[in-house]
Amino acid sequence: MNDLEKYFTENTGKMIHKWKHYFEIYDRHFSRFRNTDVHIVEFGVSHGGSLQMWKEYFGPRCKIFGVDINPHCKELEEDQVQIFIGDQEDRNFLKSLSEQIPRIDILIDDGGHTMKQQICTFEELFPYIDKNGTYLCEDLHTSYWAKWGGGYKKPSSFIEYSKKFIDYINAWHSKTIKLKVTEFTRSVHSLHFYDSILVIEKRPIEKPFQLKSGEPTLPQKSLLKRVEERFLKK
Ligand SMILES: C[S@@+](CC[C@H](N)C(=O)[O-])C[C@H]1O[C@@H](n2cnc3c(N)ncnc32)[C@H](O)[C@@H]1O
Repeated sequence: MNDLEKYFTENTGKMIHKWKHYFEIYDRHFSRFRNTDVHIVEFGVSHGGSLQMWKEYFGPRCKIFGVDINPHCKELEEDQVQIFIGDQEDRNFLKSLSEQIPRIDILIDDGGHTMKQQICTFEELFPYIDKNGTYLCEDLHTSYWAKWGGGYKKPSSFIEYSKKFIDYINAWHSKTIKLKVTEFTRSVHSLHFYDSILVIEKRPIEKPFQLKSGEPTLPQKSLLKRVEERFLKK
């Protein structure tokens, strides 16, 4: 059991609502930020318990920014925790957040989980995540639920939307002008798809290149051709 799961299990304070298997994923991608001045944005404050969990996990230097549509959540502000009230479907609100939050190292989307909310939040704020930062969107199972705007293979679901990211990080190798190297290609190191979670780790990416080391053990193609010409084609 990692520290986050331990905190959650022992929590008797403000309510936290998470799926059990998320704790391993959080720790895997977030542990490198512990005890730094990491800036975390979490969409979905609810009872405020998860904000306190992050505070304990990341330590006294972290800054936590909670975002929720429910105005009562503003009352949950405390030391190291600032709360913004607004709708994550409202692009102007999201733009204003990017102006008010000094830096985003980690963005966690645990808000309303509709397709539109997830896509708007990604499109408006992903560019503002630090070049070595991490994006995590949870409860992606709503991509399969009609009530949230999802549906299996539905083009407008977040799962279908994010599958395209696989093409984008491989754009270096594309032979068609339809798939070009973009800012996404140059800034995303890796995509991690889990049950209900997508994690994107950013890192400046250079054009990939191949290397070889050691001596060849098979005849080289040109040598094979010469042998063929001399001995076989008579
Ligand atoms: C699943 S709860 C968050 C749980 C919390 N992060 C935790 O771990 O305990 C979802 C929250 O998203 C908020 N929410 C729903 N729709 C939203 C929207 N359009 N914009 C911002 N927040 C929204 C709800 O008010 C609710 O507090």
